[in-house]
Amino acid sequence: MSAGRPLAFLAVSCCAAVQTNYNYDESKVKPYTLPDALTLLNGQPVRDAATWNEWRRPEILHLFETYQYGRTPAGPCSVRVETVSTEPGALGGLAIRKQIVLHFSSDPAGPKANLLLYVPASHRGPAPVFLGLNFNGNQSVAADPGIRLNEVWTRQTRQTADAGTRGNQAQQWQVEKILGRGYALATIYYGDIEPDFDGGIGYGVRPLFFRAGQTAPAADDWGAIGAWAWGLSRAVDYLEKDPVIDAQKIAVMGHSRLGKTALWAGAQDARFAIVISNESGEGGASLSRRNYGEDLRHLNTAFPHWFCANYRRYIGHEPLLPMDSHMLLALIAPRPLYVASAEEDRGSDPRGEFLAAVNAGPVYALLGKHGIGTDQMPGLHQPVGDAVAYHIRAGQHDVTAYDWDRYLDFADRQFGRQP
Ligand code: GCU
Repeated sequence: MSAGRPLAFLAVSCCAAVQTNYNYDESKVKPYTLPDALTLLNGQPVRDAATWNEWRRPEILHLFETYQYGRTPAGPCSVRVETVSTEPGALGGLAIRKQIVLHFSSDPAGPKANLLLYVPASHRGPAPVFLGLNFNGNQSVAADPGIRLNEVWTRQTRQTADAGTRGNQAQQWQVEKILGRGYALATIYYGDIEPDFDGGIGYGVRPLFFRAGQTAPAADDWGAIGAWAWGLSRAVDYLEKDPVIDAQKIAVMGHSRLGKTALWAGAQDARFAIVISNESGEGGASLSRRNYGEDLRHLNTAFPHWFCANYRRYIGHEPLLPMDSHMLLALIAPRPLYVASAEEDRGSDPRGEFLAAVNAGPVYALLGKHGIGTDQMPGLHQPVGDAVAYHIRAGQHDVTAYDWDRYLDFADRQFGRQP
């Protein structure tokens, strides 16, 4: 297949030299003060749920739109849904496999997303579902020969996925485990929404929303993470209409940059009943004011297309940000939120992720929910929390069976299901 629709104005490459001399010394973490999630910009305290919902929450959402992720345009975008296949008996009889295409443009060469949906074959009635974007194409999620080989991006070139990559991310998805616990799994390849490189914008959904005469994003227009989050909401639009799915029980899960994406999707769209951030790090769950691990300089230099241009103004000036990640997490309240870290993933600053979850607690409390319940970081493999949960496991930056076991337990608890 062709390499898509190159747009000359976007042909920028991302070869900037990138600084990675992060601080990993806890004794060199400078003191910082977090903005108070429960104080309005005019200095007034937020003492009740109504003031939170009507004033403070919109204020905080606006801060993240203006200074970090950029604004997600509100329509118009009519999505055409094409159900390509519905196959019972997938995965040795464990699942019904549905493959759907969401067409975002009337132009046949325009962007479209391939949604793969597994529903537990044994399920009676609509199933709760985990939804997540995947990094390597739907075929990578399970070694299932029935998954269509769609196009994927390799080093800025689009080509049909290689059959040899079937199931090469199965460890991160644990499809049988999820289905065995009675949950459906829905996933889309994130490159379908926008390929992940500086200049990838020309192949994704963002230009569909350019204003007349616009050729590049404004300083507060959405970045790629905003576009990926938008794609998750379009998947929800579909799931809400599919009777095999319980649309009140949609959990969004994302790892790393897609964990940042899951948080931003959950902050904007209350249809995500549970939000799970797996090692989302800087620009996601971890506190920017804590100078440990990745910083804004690295994030915005290595990945200039992820956020809005305004975010770059805070490189080296993180304490001047009018918000921090605890406020992003608070936007998800009172819905259940899980933040997870890995011991060796120091770049994501596990403690900064934990402290953001702790500091979202007062907003959960205001809304009648129990947060993490401690400000002491737990040891390895000791999950803590209630409506806000946290764990840190041994090992590297990854999604593992251990993580999925915790997310499934959490979803069972929050959805009132028997394990
Ligand atoms: C890089 C980046 C992180 C990001 C990660 C990922 O390491 O610096 O911010 O979370 O990629 O998405 O894997």
